[in-house]
Formats: sequence, structure tokens, C-alpha cells
Amino acid sequence: MDTTGRPSEEIYDVVGIGFGPSNMALAIALEEHEATSPEQPIRSHFFERQLMFGWHRNMLLPSTTMQISFLKDLVTFRNPVSRYSFISFLHASDRLVQFVNNQDFYPTRHEFHQYLEWAASSLSDRVTYGTEVTAIRPVADADGQPGLLDVEVRGADGTTSVVTARNVAISTGLVPRLPDGMSAGARVWHSSEFLSRYQQQPPHELRNVAVVGAGQSAAEITRFLYDSLPHAEVSAILPSYGYSVADDTPFANQIFDPNAVDEYYFGTERARDSFWRYHRNTNYSVVDADVIRALYQRSYDEQVRGSQRLHFRNLTRVAEIEHLGDATKVVLHSVLDGTQEHIVVDALVFATGYDGLDPARLLGDDFDRNFKRDESGRHQVTRDYRLVTATGLTCGVYLQGGTEHTHGLSSALLSNIAVRSGEIADSIVLRRTRAELADAQLAHSAV
Ligand code: FDA
Ligand code: NAP
Repeated sequence: MDTTGRPSEEIYDVVGIGFGPSNMALAIALEEHEATSPEQPIRSHFFERQLMFGWHRNMLLPSTTMQISFLKDLVTFRNPVSRYSFISFLHASDRLVQFVNNQDFYPTRHEFHQYLEWAASSLSDRVTYGTEVTAIRPVADADGQPGLLDVEVRGADGTTSVVTARNVAISTGLVPRLPDGMSAGARVWHSSEFLSRYQQQPPHELRNVAVVGAGQSAAEITRFLYDSLPHAEVSAILPSYGYSVADDTPFANQIFDPNAVDEYYFGTERARDSFWRYHRNTNYSVVDADVIRALYQRSYDEQVRGSQRLHFRNLTRVAEIEHLGDATKVVLHSVLDGTQEHIVVDALVFATGYDGLDPARLLGDDFDRNFKRDESGRHQVTRDYRLVTATGLTCGVYLQGGTEHTHGLSSALLSNIAVRSGEIADSIVLRRTRAELADAQLAHSAV
């Protein structure tokens, strides 16, 4: 045994990198495969750098709700009778009846987090927490073919181990993005680190705070700061004229259906472009209507009272910032008239979004050259979510995330994780069966 907590000589069928909802759904799909085909066990293990399970913990703000139905959980769209469903969780928590009485499709993020923790607790033998995968390298298998992958894992104590696998499933999640040239600091945070950084501050020292962005994160944090710091001036720096609503109406929502993946994947370039042109506003730079109304209500109440501490600076982008000890100077560029002004704040939150998962970060330049890219330089990906190899590699690098350009808008979301994980599990099983058949035929013909 070593850092990974696993016998190091074992060759896994698949090693999962990251244990967020996507790879949890894969772990469950593999477990359920084993239950139905015990003669074909799939050897798998997952590595998660957090010390315990957590799903965007720093954004678990009070009253925030899920942006998908509770039925888009880890399993239901793939296996409605799975013991890992949200409904099973409610039943186990003795809350199913009350949940139904509440008549709400969209649980709080707090409750969904409880659900994910509940599911993770039953999967604890499949994951090692406090372990970060730092590199993936190809190695030859017994036949001298490049059919295996060495996965380098660093434990919380800094020690490094290597595990070997036929496939990896990279599911390392979104990468926080700050505007070019800006850096985080003691009182300058990206939204992904918000709660833990905020909770370290004495509230009375936060008299003047600002939130950058016009997406869901920005609106939720602005509302939270306004409600939590009744003495503070709160500025919302919006690149748009006002917050735009997230389109979650039924026809538009169909773009997240499992079938839409095929239509996107096999569609023409023009069809894929239409998905984005017409439906980007289902997810990016948009806000749920209830949060928009909650913010407007607060602003209107201030007008009625005749006192204002909630300031919306619209058509404004942050041009640069200067760290001044605990304070920050924020240079604001007006898109309306091109003028610049600055404000000085005690805390600045960049709710400026995320970049997608990029597998090259883990593969490294040398190994990454083995995989094909399209004309725009993006990785080519098979329908079953594997990177397309340019060489004779027979090992598989599966992606859960980072496939918006090939599989569509649900790539970075929860909507399709149950079905996608089932497809990846099936693909791993099928490829292994084919390889075993090929080996058997070879052995037979050699006799
Ligand atoms: P996720 O980011 O959840 O998990 C990745 C895991 O990999 C993390 O636990 C990380 O620690 C780990 N990791 C990273 N690098 C590693 C390494 N090198 N080694 C080991 N571990 C590593 N979508 C939706 O459909 N409905 C919703 O309601 C929401 N809500 C929402 C709220 C907020 C605040 C954000 C920022 C995003 C959402 N999303 C969402 C979108 C979000 O991408 C989605 O909910 C899931 O987090 C996707 O799950 P993944 O497992 O793919 O990534
Ligand atoms: P986002 O939707 O990408 O929004 C980022 C915002 O920052 C955009 O308005 C962007 O404007 C703005 N921005 C970027 N640079 C700027 C600058 N220099 N000055 C001013 N504004 C700037 O990111 P997000 O809100 O973090 O959402 C990311 C994902 O998480 C989405 O899927 C969202 O639905 C999800 N989420 C869900 C919940 C929930 O479930 N309750 C909560 C939070 C987030 P431009 O558009 O002009 O670039």
C-alpha cells in the first residue's frame, strides 16, 4: 500500500481523476454494471484532491437553489430504480413526503449537497480523498503496445505514487477565471473561493464591497453581501445594462436532453452554431428570475426609504485593479461613454466565470501530442467521450467535461451526467471485451 491507499501493482480498468458529481455518477454506473454482470468486474478507483467530498462548497449561500430538476440526479435518467437516486436519499432521510408536499422541482443547493454527500458516503471504498493527480504518462503493456497509463498521484503529505490503468476518466471540473491581468489577493477573491474567504473577515471591516459580473454567481453573491452586511455599501459591476434572465423554459431546456447530444455531435457546423447562438442564454452570463427580482426588490425598497447603499454600475467593466494592503482600487471602464473612474473597496469579488476543463493540463505537452485536434485547435473527441488518438495508443482517455465543442451545452453541467456516465461505463466494458476476444483469437491461431 502507498499514498493512494491501493495496492500499487494492480492494473485498473479505469482510474477516475476528480470525484465530483460526474465521476461519482461513473463510479455508480460501474458498481451497477458489476451487480448485473458479476462475471465481468471492472477494476476502478478514483482520486479526489479535496480532503472530503464537497461540491462548490464556497458557493453554498443561503437560499440558493438548483438550476436543474431533482430528477437530473446522479442516476435517474440512466437507471430510475437505482438506490442512488435523489428520491432514495429523501426516503432514507425520512423527508420524501414533506418534499412532495413542498411541490418544488428545484431543491436548495444545500439539500442537493446533502444528497451528494449521502451518495459519496456509500462509495468511500472507491475513492481516495486528499490525493491530487499531477500527471498521466503512456506505458507499454505486456505485449509492448502503448496500452496502459501511469497516473501520478500526490498525497496530502506531499508523497507521490503511481497507479497503472487501461483508461482514465478526467473529470476535474471548471477552472476559475479572472479577467486578464488581474490577480487574487487577501481581499480580492474569485467567486469559487467566496465563502471560505468571506468567513475569515471581521464583518465590520467590510464597509465597502464590490462584485464583478452579471451571471448567476455575481447576482447570488451581491444579494448575500447586501443581506449579510447591513452597514456596507455594495456595488454590482455589470458589463450589461441589467441582469439577463436564464432561459429555463421547456422548449429551450430540450438542448440539455440526452438526445440533444447526438444532434449536436452528429449535426452540421451550422447546427452546432445555432445551439450556441440561440441558447447560450440558458447558462452563461444569465441569472435565475427569482434572484433578479429579489435584487430589484431590495433596490426599490431603498428608493421608497430614500437611502441607498446598493449600487448597480451597469455597462461597466473592470479595467484594472491595484492592491492597496487590505483595500483595493478598482478602475472601472464605462462601455457607455468610454470614461474611466475608480472606486476603493474593502473586498472585491470577481464572479467572472470559468474556463472549461482542458485535459492537456494533466497530459502534458509531450503526451498531448498523441491526440488529434480540430482546425480550431480543440481536442477531437469520440461520441463515447474518448480523446481521438493520432497514434496507435489503445489506452483510453475519457473526458467528463471539456466537450462543449463536440457534445454540446450540457458538457459542463449536471443535466446529462447519469446518461453520459453510463455511456462511458459501457464503452469501457465493450472495449475490454473486444480486446479480450482479440487476445483469445490470437492465442487460438497460435496453437
Ligand atoms: P466538479 O467541479 O464538481 O468536480 C471536479 C472535482 O475534481 C473536484 O472535486 C476537484 O476537487 C477535483 N479535482 C480537480 N483536479 C483534480 C486533480 N488533479 N486530482 C484530483 N482531483 C481533482 N450545473 C447544473 O447543471 N446545475 C446546477 O444547479 C449547477 N450549479 C452550479 C453552481 C455553481 C456555484 C457552479 C460553479 C457550477 C454549477 N453547475 C451547475 C455547473 C457545474 O459544473 C456542475 O454542477 C458540476 O460541478 C459538474 O461536476 P464535475 O464532477 O464535472 O465537476
Ligand atoms: P458566467 O455565467 O460565465 O458569468 C461571468 C460574468 O462575468 C459575465 O457576466 C461576464 O460578462 C462577466 N465579466 C467577465 N469579465 C468581466 C470584467 N472584466 N468586468 C465586468 N464583468 C466581467 O459565470 P458564473 O455566474 O460563475 O456561472 C458559471 C456557471 O455556474 C453557470 O453554469 C451557472 O449557471 C452556474 N452557477 C449555478 C448556481 C446555482 O446553481 N445556484 C450558482 C452560481 C453559478 P461577459 O458575458 O460580458 O463576459
